[in-house]
Amino acid sequence: MKVFKSVTDLGDLNVALREAFEIKADRFKYSELGRNKTALLIFFNNSLRTRLSTQKAAMNLGMNVIVLDVNQGAWKLETERGVIMDGDKSEHLLEAIPVMASYCDIIGVRSFARFESREDDYGEKILNQFIQYSGKPVFFMESATVHPLQSFADLITIEEYKERPRPKVVMTWAPHPKALPQAVPNSFAEWMNAADVDFVITHPEGYELDPQFVGDARVEYDQMKAFEGADFVYAKNWSCPGVTRPEDYGKVLSQDMSWTVGERQMAVTNNAHFMHCLPVRRNMIVTDDVIESPRSLVIPEAANREISATVVLKRMLEAL
Ligand code: CP
Repeated sequence: MKVFKSVTDLGDLNVALREAFEIKADRFKYSELGRNKTALLIFFNNSLRTRLSTQKAAMNLGMNVIVLDVNQGAWKLETERGVIMDGDKSEHLLEAIPVMASYCDIIGVRSFARFESREDDYGEKILNQFIQYSGKPVFFMESATVHPLQSFADLITIEEYKERPRPKVVMTWAPHPKALPQAVPNSFAEWMNAADVDFVITHPEGYELDPQFVGDARVEYDQMKAFEGADFVYAKNWSCPGVTRPEDYGKVLSQDMSWTVGERQMAVTNNAHFMHCLPVRRNMIVTDDVIESPRSLVIPEAANREISATVVLKRMLEAL
């Protein structure tokens, strides 16, 4: 595997899940595979889970790891070609990428949506430059539009906790004080469409996700109706994707607290498990009671980030 950004990059999903559970049973089984190989993890944005779980995954495989926080200690990077660099940016990404690539075998990059241009964000301008100019395998550690390591971990978690075949999985928008990217909901929708689940998306009008990710999912604007009989509830905020009104891209259109996931909504589910990728704003996205309930999976879900990252790095090492 040379690039990991989509569910399709893993091939047969059942094979990938079997590999995940094999690694979960013995996470050091492939500890020789990465000997004398180096993973470079580049962060343009903050992280707790992705940073730690991916580092741990690389160590499970015997790799060396270098972590770079671009905005803390490195030169500020210009990303646009043609800019006269007379400002605060000392280095261009077009030199920085091949230099960084020369020190490693596999590169992971986190670079969120900037909300300056929908075209740039959905064109994955930053990550595509890493793919084009590094000459190394590149995996997405949350880009402008996708977060595949998270969605793979979410799928592993659903497989572990499902109590019936083809469970009903509901992804719900929930309020948040700041504008957040659509990477997590986009990927989750993409991965659920590929999985053997009954998938429903619910959000207020105006928050329609890009059709390439929504796929065949059912979209239900009435949150309570969407929650009926759900086995898993996946909560997430996202800002306006700009599908119906491009001028609203990246805006917060609603802070309707009636969408906060609480006992009222969970009561109409099939005793659903609650999921969220974390970090989460309590009592905005979800109430204390729901996130602390025995049906909450937020901690096992985060723990499975180590497993999804180990499978992805293993696949990349095997293809070197
Ligand atoms: N869920 C997730 O990616 O967490 P971090 O932003 O802390 O890495």
